[in-house]
Amino acid sequence: MCGIVGYTGNKPAVNILISGLEKLEYRGYDSAGVALNLNHKITLERAVGRLVNLSVALAKSAAKVELQASTCGIGHTRWATHGGPSEINAHPHLSEGLALVHNGIIENYQVLRKQLESEGYKFNSETDTEVAAHLLNKYLIKENNSPEVALAKLMSKVEGSFAFVATCDRNPEQLLVARRASPLIVGLGEHEFYIASDVTAILEYTRKVIYLEDNDYAVLDKNQIAIYNNGEKVTRDTATIKWDLTQAQRGGFEHFMIKEIFDQPKAINDTLSGRLVASHADFNLLEIAEYAAQIKDLHRIKIVACGTAWHAAQVGKHYFERIARIPCDVEVASEFRYQEPIFQNNDLLICVSQSGETADTLAAIDLIGSQCLTLGITNVLGSSLSRKVKASMLTQAGPEISVASTKAFITQALVMYLLALKFAKVRSQITPEELEKQLSDITLLSSTIHEILQANSEIEALADKYLDYENYFFLGRGVAFPIALEGALKLKEVTYLSAQGYPAGELKHGPIALISPNVVTVAVVQKEEPYFSKTLSNLSEVKARNGKIIVISDAKGREEDLRAIADDLIFVPFINHFITPILTTIPLQVFAYETARKLGREIDCPRNLAKSVTVE
Ligand code: M6R
Repeated sequence: MCGIVGYTGNKPAVNILISGLEKLEYRGYDSAGVALNLNHKITLERAVGRLVNLSVALAKSAAKVELQASTCGIGHTRWATHGGPSEINAHPHLSEGLALVHNGIIENYQVLRKQLESEGYKFNSETDTEVAAHLLNKYLIKENNSPEVALAKLMSKVEGSFAFVATCDRNPEQLLVARRASPLIVGLGEHEFYIASDVTAILEYTRKVIYLEDNDYAVLDKNQIAIYNNGEKVTRDTATIKWDLTQAQRGGFEHFMIKEIFDQPKAINDTLSGRLVASHADFNLLEIAEYAAQIKDLHRIKIVACGTAWHAAQVGKHYFERIARIPCDVEVASEFRYQEPIFQNNDLLICVSQSGETADTLAAIDLIGSQCLTLGITNVLGSSLSRKVKASMLTQAGPEISVASTKAFITQALVMYLLALKFAKVRSQITPEELEKQLSDITLLSSTIHEILQANSEIEALADKYLDYENYFFLGRGVAFPIALEGALKLKEVTYLSAQGYPAGELKHGPIALISPNVVTVAVVQKEEPYFSKTLSNLSEVKARNGKIIVISDAKGREEDLRAIADDLIFVPFINHFITPILTTIPLQVFAYETARKLGREIDCPRNLAKSVTVE
């Protein structure tokens, strides 16, 4: 996820672009850049790291006068996806007389890059975006098409998701924009237009906006805008924004945590982007392609992580053992780092970390060194973890701002599910039919999470009902156990209530002493046997002691059995047993959030916690 801005009008553009980028910095801050159009010349300035570095570069720039005088320009703040965080990979990207910024992922950029190189275009960066700059140059400048035809041609070539803003030195007041599956809005002023990824960037200048629709493209200068879709000129309604700035940064949500919970269908789609192919016979995990021989020969997997990532790792263990039939164990990184582990060269160490900067997790890689193959699963390209490991897989959850991790968890689980399927294929542990079935099931994940989130009022009512309770157990068996741990962690982090996660069968070995009518047990009950019956029997022990019971389950067909035991029951749809852990997590996230909200907690910055724990 990146942030993009554009301006054409009568005011100095650079200040407007920088102030817009400041509001969008939450979308990524690996690098930032602007391109200003003046007197048929484009001036570019870019800097690695946070936006403040770009401001310093602008202040020192030899072209300071041109930069300040221009009234038309584009800007970008980057969250790296293709190509590490460096100045060369920073946007805007140039293609002789044209500058372009991009938010999204161009899935077929490798094919396009080869074609453009054969036509003589020179590439300076490792990004997917540069192909769009060269393609637009080709259609607009080389082939001399009108801007709208050039944009239409560009859109017919690129696959994936994008929001583009470009400016060409032939027309110093003109902006060219296009979008597909990535957001882009146009702000309307007096003889001026603003472009941005979201309204926060332009709210201080205007409240009148046009939300461009999927596959819209537009050509604008300070006096007019022409919007097109599929070759036809179209009109779009103007909306008036009523939110204040802070509300708008959270997309209208009250907190980042709930925004990120609702971001999850998109996070799943982005993580899958470019991986699945139409037939579902196979899928791309190019990051591990060169290790196929080692994967074939693997004896053992060890996964190391902290907090929520450690819970995701435990879900991963189930995938690796059940799907790929490779022995796998999971360790908390702060424990692992002081052990004397024995590794052999046919072992695999996987480290999972949203930030890729967690000190304990990084220490695991240092401990193992080059004894075996190492794989990092992280949400941040260019993070320390991605640089330390041999192979690195990115979750594409987008920046996670809320301290309580949500979308990182489900995308980590998904990446491990994909890895397990790939390992199973390489090791002939899965039939082509089964692989096809599971890949086609995975395509349902995003829309099913969306469906669950539509019913969030049910969970909100539950949070209301249990608001006076201060002690919780979260129980699960098999793969539902790490989900119970994650449910308990979410609740305690944001509500400060006491919540303990346990394997359901372990309750009778001690913790059951705490069960009373004042204690709530939240049980994750999957329909798969023997887990279903065994968990139900553990819950009867709770019921016999008058404990309150909330059940989250995928076993709609067993409603009667569940109703006999649960005080409250939340169903999630069933797709397959490997997808159930991801789906049952969603109501637990919403329950923690709603309880915290009703208790008036500091949800996005809970007491005593930090987003990234870079110390021991
Ligand atoms: O960035 P990481 O995934 O390595 O962070 C690990 C934990 O610190 C993190 O998951 C933490 O437990 C979250 N606050 C959980 O919501």
